[in-house]
Amino acid sequence: MTISTAAPRRTFAIISHPDAGKTTLTEKLLLLGGSIRSAGTVKGKKSGKFATSDWMEIEKQRGISVTSSVMQLVYNDVQVNILDTPGHQDFSEDTYRTLTAVDTAVMVIDSVKGIEAQTLKLFKVCRMRGIPILTFINKLDREGKEPLDLLSEIEETLEMETFPMNWPIGTGKRLKGIYDLQNETIETFTDSHSNRQIIPLKDADNLQDHERENLEEEIMLLDEAGNDFSQEKIQNGTMTPVFFGSALANFGVQSFLDAFVNLASKPKPRKASGQMINPEQDQFSGFIFKIQANMNPNHRDRIAFLRVCSGEFERGMEIILSRSGKKMKLSQSHSFFASDRETVNTARPGDIVGIYDSGNFQVGDTLIGGGERIQYEEMPQFPPEKFAKVTAKNAMKHKQYHKGIEQLVQEGTIQLYKTPYFEDYILGAVGELQFQVFDYRMKNEYNVDIELNHMTHELARWVTKGDVSDIVSDSRKMLVEDQQKRPVILFENEFAMRWFQDKNPGFELSSGWEIL
Ligand code: G4P
Repeated sequence: MTISTAAPRRTFAIISHPDAGKTTLTEKLLLLGGSIRSAGTVKGKKSGKFATSDWMEIEKQRGISVTSSVMQLVYNDVQVNILDTPGHQDFSEDTYRTLTAVDTAVMVIDSVKGIEAQTLKLFKVCRMRGIPILTFINKLDREGKEPLDLLSEIEETLEMETFPMNWPIGTGKRLKGIYDLQNETIETFTDSHSNRQIIPLKDADNLQDHERENLEEEIMLLDEAGNDFSQEKIQNGTMTPVFFGSALANFGVQSFLDAFVNLASKPKPRKASGQMINPEQDQFSGFIFKIQANMNPNHRDRIAFLRVCSGEFERGMEIILSRSGKKMKLSQSHSFFASDRETVNTARPGDIVGIYDSGNFQVGDTLIGGGERIQYEEMPQFPPEKFAKVTAKNAMKHKQYHKGIEQLVQEGTIQLYKTPYFEDYILGAVGELQFQVFDYRMKNEYNVDIELNHMTHELARWVTKGDVSDIVSDSRKMLVEDQQKRPVILFENEFAMRWFQDKNPGFELSSGWEIL
């Protein structure tokens, strides 16, 4: 796929609970943009074909997407960049970071299940960042919850206003179509996209009298009790436009994409070193939100994912790594369509570029083309909830062991803590699967067998005030330091933490989330 240099950019990620239909919707969007030619290219966990975003063997075994990939489509002269995010809850940390690189989020909700835990968690991150959220309520071809109930569920659980863009006429077997509330037309339901038909409501002769009456009643209700459309609220993430459809039946997907290119946010100014950096400015800048090692076993390399924020990226350009001031030439840059790499010659704000990394970059690094050494805001770090002591089974392999840990931690696969004096390694993860991936990758990529001893601690708190030299580790709490040598106390549970706070009122503790 060729990248259009002048086209406006819209960069988004889909957030959803596993199985809500994210992969199916992504595939249908790519089909509409002509990026793929046949269904099943992106999807097919059970059919033996694997999602194009599934690079790692472990993903294939589990049928879940562990890594995030980048896909592109051009639609109505807009270049749409889709950042894939793993839906599995154990990988939310990776997803959180990906969300820092997008300008818009699309929330896919299963109409049968409503809002699920994972959506809620990810969604809160978007709210925190004030990015627009577009909602696609999927699986309309099934008997789902009442549309009005789904709207109030979103309003109540997610504390944001909703604005339906279209309205379903029946669901499941009785699904007749969706009514476009702006244009007062009906897209009639057939399960073949090639028959897409949009007709004025008055001409819809497939509706029975009671269906028409029902629809008119609901439209009136929405008119009276619904929220007023506000572009401003959508842009700051306090109102979500809601679309109904079925990704599998390719129903309502094109209407969604038509509206998406208008409603999604364009790349906005971003904060770096206390100032707002405008995407229009000439000076190139961007940040790295993800590092992926050994993505392709034939390449044995590390790829840093760069989000371009201002200026223009050109292959071979000289850049400066803001953190150290080091100058580098970026001669190897790729765009990704999963494992197919294409060389990127130029990229504009909103684009994601994969750059070859021989170990220079860290997640959160800012790259600039010149001028002042600005630094984009620190990547969010999330408090891990599971901990394990890690050692190499074979002490002779310590060199590979340290290299593996260093690289995987730099990639953000897992968090690393060390105990004072003895410097024992403790891994911190948001979910159990992170340990399994770490174990698997140490074995497969670094040839090291590791031993993991799970600990009973559940909470990590950074000490922002107080003298830690007096803290004695015991079974309920353990003093460690993070990668930046900041003191952290691991507590067994909430109770142990409160007990500590009562006994040590001079201390101030913070969860990673708060120290962002
Ligand atoms: P995910 O990426 O969010 O995890 O969801 P995915 O697209 O993989 O979809 C999960 C399941 O839901 C798949 O079925 C998919 O076919 C189905 N699905 C997606 N959209 C719709 C829809 O609009 N209507 C209906 N009825 N089903 C939908 P599966 O049986 O788990 O997988 P497969 O055998 O189809 O591969």
